[in-house]
Amino acid sequence: MANISIIALLCFTICVSSSLNYSYGAAEENMQYMVVGHVYCDTCRVEFETKLSEPISGAVVKLECRNRTDEAITFQSQEIVADNYGDYHIIVEGDYEESDCDVALVRSPRADCSDPTEAWRKSRVVLTTFDGLSGKLRFANNLGFKKDKALPQCTRILQEMGYYELSQESEELSHSSEL
Ligand SMILES: *[C@@H]1O[C@H](CO)[C@@H](O)[C@H](O)[C@H]1NC(C)=O
Ligand SMILES: *[C@@H]1O[C@H](CO)[C@@H](O)[C@H](O)[C@H]1NC(C)=O
Repeated sequence: MANISIIALLCFTICVSSSLNYSYGAAEENMQYMVVGHVYCDTCRVEFETKLSEPISGAVVKLECRNRTDEAITFQSQEIVADNYGDYHIIVEGDYEESDCDVALVRSPRADCSDPTEAWRKSRVVLTTFDGLSGKLRFANNLGFKKDKALPQCTRILQEMGYYELSQESEELSHSSEL
């Protein structure tokens, strides 16, 4: 009887301490990152943010990592919903040194602003510490949906920014590509 309980106690001690060691080791290797970003409505349809850009509350994004060599998916987040300020955060477990990771737009809750911009439909994020970046917080570039029609105030704002001709050009381009 005594022998059995000693054996049981020994086994318990070994099991617990080895699992503790395992989890300590894993905690060091298994980095956790927090990816933060913002989704806006490009109300001037210019593919960059202006002071007329609006946050999109409820915009849906997703983070996906793919093996750089064979393109197999190495991480996929749930669909993440932006808060009232158009901001989101995504928790990622592990280190993705060998993967390319991108946050991408999934959909917009705004019927008048649901056309993903070409330039900012996705944003690359680095999810490894092996390239010299330290810390668990990683910032994604802001992502934007384009409004169906540019706001009338855009002309003035873009003139102030010195972009008026550029915006006319991109308007013409986007019209011709819609045809
Ligand atoms: C747990 O780790 C410590 C220090 O790294 C070591 O001394 C100990 O022997 C390990 N225990 C087991 C059960 O592996
Ligand atoms: C990526 O793909 C290559 C080639 O298939 C493979 O050797 C490597 O282990 C993969 N890396 C990861 C992190 O899955």
